[in-house]
Amino acid sequence: MSRVFILLSIVLVSIYQTEQAYFLTDDYINQINNEATTWKAGKNFPSNISVEYFKSMLGSKGVEKSSNGPLKTEDPNYNNFTIPETFDARNKWSQCKTIGHVRDQGMCGSCWALSTTSAFSDRLCIATDGKFNQLISAEKLTFCCYLCGFGCYGGYPIMAWRYFKYFGIVTGGDYDSNEGCQPYRVEPCVVDDEGHNSCRGRQIEKRHSCKRQCYGNTTIDYRNDHVYTRNAYHLTAEMIQKDVLAYGPVEASFLVYDDFLNYKSGVYVKTEHAIYMGGGHSVKLIGWGEEGGVPYWLMVNSWNSHWGDKGTFKIRRGTNECGIEDSVTGGVPLTH
Ligand SMILES: *[C@@H]1O[C@H](CO)[C@@H](O)[C@H](O)[C@H]1NC(C)=O
Ligand SMILES: *[C@@H]1O[C@H](CO)[C@@H](O)[C@H](O)[C@H]1NC(C)=O
Ligand SMILES: *[C@@H]1O[C@H](CO)[C@@H](O)[C@H](O)[C@H]1NC(C)=O
Repeated sequence: MSRVFILLSIVLVSIYQTEQAYFLTDDYINQINNEATTWKAGKNFPSNISVEYFKSMLGSKGVEKSSNGPLKTEDPNYNNFTIPETFDARNKWSQCKTIGHVRDQGMCGSCWALSTTSAFSDRLCIATDGKFNQLISAEKLTFCCYLCGFGCYGGYPIMAWRYFKYFGIVTGGDYDSNEGCQPYRVEPCVVDDEGHNSCRGRQIEKRHSCKRQCYGNTTIDYRNDHVYTRNAYHLTAEMIQKDVLAYGPVEASFLVYDDFLNYKSGVYVKTEHAIYMGGGHSVKLIGWGEEGGVPYWLMVNSWNSHWGDKGTFKIRRGTNECGIEDSVTGGVPLTH
């Protein structure tokens, strides 16, 4: 009896894993474009990618208000700024090349690591007025922070900031770049001219071993390369803009609905019939503004620059769209 059950489960699981993603079809994209008034949908992925592929990309466990980090509400630096109607960190700190840089998490639910290391890179660049101007290692965080969660199977962004505070972290650029101490080692998902996505059918990346030396740019001294934050915190919705103005980009997580995968331009607002994908996604928040009367947050995603609006997207601001304002995290870099 139980053997039959196990067999049946295996069959069901494998059917599920190869289930084609209905939400990538032209019909569904047309339906979104009929319903959505503030944004446009289009093809970001070939339509024969499995549903499982997308579930594996949603690795943020940080959407629900989490109890394992303090909530920051005050900072002497918050009072120095009046909040502008439009803000784009790429323009404000144009000397910091990492702010607008779009990364690619590959076949790994490491969005929580790419978003937090990217925000920390930007913040350190801003704090040092461009002297530090490189990426911090997402590889190191994904595979060495055991308290952060489950590596490629997801993690808690607030725990990433705590890791920066207590253990520090080394530099590390993109896949195959040899930039920094520990560059990212998960292959990107490349789409060729015929629409073949190199990650199609690939398994979720296995855990890499945690390295305690530099393998990218080997002239870098591993110990000396460590950078730290002073703290690690959640922000209330009211404090997000002040913290960005004072210190730079922050991490933000939200619940993913199936229409989001087809985002191309405009201000994303969940369409009425969109279905929850069962996971959270973590991205970097770099600004805000208003478009056609709709306030938005400006975000950098980690699904390569061929996704969405050159790798970025806008999402409605002020209404806690998909939980986006519930669990923003950050930390202030330590500079000497
Ligand atoms: C903001 O104001 C505080 C207190 O007046 C001051 O200590 C701090 O240096 C100022 N920060 C900036 C970034 O100007
Ligand atoms: C998937 O789609 C691409 C392009 O749309 C096509 O070239 C490829 O043959 C398809 N693969 C399968 C297994 O259907
Ligand atoms: C490697 O690191 C050294 C020391 O930090 C630096 O001077 C050099 O420019 C780096 N090389 C590359 C190719 O990035």
